[in-house]
Amino acid sequence: MASLDTLFDAAKAIQAKAYAPYSRFKVGAAIATPDGQVFVGCNVENAAYPVGACAEAGAISAMIAGGGNRIHEIVVMGEGEHLVTPCGGCRQRIREFASPNAKIHVAGPEGIRRSFTLDELLPFSFGPDNLTDR
Ligand code: THU
Repeated sequence: MASLDTLFDAAKAIQAKAYAPYSRFKVGAAIATPDGQVFVGCNVENAAYPVGACAEAGAISAMIAGGGNRIHEIVVMGEGEHLVTPCGGCRQRIREFASPNAKIHVAGPEGIRRSFTLDELLPFSFGPDNLTDR
């Protein structure tokens, strides 16, 4: 199992690589899978603003490309004083691959600031079961 320290360090390292020339707001995300693999992503902005991608989306793409398919926990590393909780779209992206009790750790450069469960951030969510249990 990847330790939370390892996941924090991975999120911090990838945050530095973010491509965020427009917002100047760098974000890093690190996913631990149940079997201990770590996958990372950073935000990648675009001159056509709406097609920029969040860090969490990049980490999920890396996980899928790397053969993983479950999120045990995720660290999201942002800038500034505020809690950088995943945006609404990314909560849904995480939800596709995580259990309701999976931990979403919100971090700043100094450490983990607050930890939530997915269910706290996305209650009564829509997911794969909606499509299969019919
Ligand atoms: N961003 C993320 O990558 N993840 C989040 O959880 C919040 C926001 C990015 C999107 C955009 O590139 C920048 O942060 C400012 O919104």
